[in-house]
Amino acid sequence: MTEPKAIAIDGPVASGKTVVGRLLAQRLGYRVLDTGLMYRAITWQALEDGVDLEDREGMASLVEEHDLEVRFEDGGEASIFLDNRDVTPYLRLPEVEQGVSRVARIPAVRDAMVARQRSIGREGQVVMVGRDIGTVVLPDAPLKVYLTAAVEERAQRRYKELQGLGTGVGYEQVLRELQQRDRLDLEREIAPLRPAEDATIVTTDGLNVRDVVEWVVSLLGKST
Ligand code: CDP
Repeated sequence: MTEPKAIAIDGPVASGKTVVGRLLAQRLGYRVLDTGLMYRAITWQALEDGVDLEDREGMASLVEEHDLEVRFEDGGEASIFLDNRDVTPYLRLPEVEQGVSRVARIPAVRDAMVARQRSIGREGQVVMVGRDIGTVVLPDAPLKVYLTAAVEERAQRRYKELQGLGTGVGYEQVLRELQQRDRLDLEREIAPLRPAEDATIVTTDGLNVRDVVEWVVSLLGKST
């Protein structure tokens, strides 16, 4: 079996893509980049600098002014640095979560992030996770997987994660916010969320993560 250079995993909120990507990368000894973290980092910086998330020119300047760097730890996981400061711990804050899909609609933000993602893809041995990896970022990736699950199941997963973090947010609110983010990701003009034509679609309702990873590994042999 020839090892694929890069593996693209896309899917909506809480489809399981991040955890599947991480386990898959561990299994293969690859690096893993959750590209959502990069959009989250830009969102965090905009909130810090007081830039209106709808101000496209202001957001374009913000991306130029700050130096965003992806650094891979020894275990292959990525951390995001802005101006040499590790901002990864802030990227799941509720205000970032609520703003990120508005920021991800802005062409100048996407162009800058996609350019960095492609150069990481070219280095190879990476599992890249996001919304547009198979369609836009790495259209030539030899293996593309699109994970999905029913909206209620995804909301239930995110709700449990948030409960684990000790936040008091209710299921109904999680479901509402998730539907709103899905809508923004699906309906935006550039790089909307959709499976690439050559992606394998996996519906993860009721499947455990290990089963999904084994399934993807079984696709590896067929992909090259
Ligand atoms: O983990 P979760 O699915 O909640 O979110 P994420 O993967 O961290 O992505 C956060 C947001 O960034 C998404 O809702 C998209 O709006 C945006 N995003 C994107 O536009 N393109 C990507 N390749 C990755 C994320």
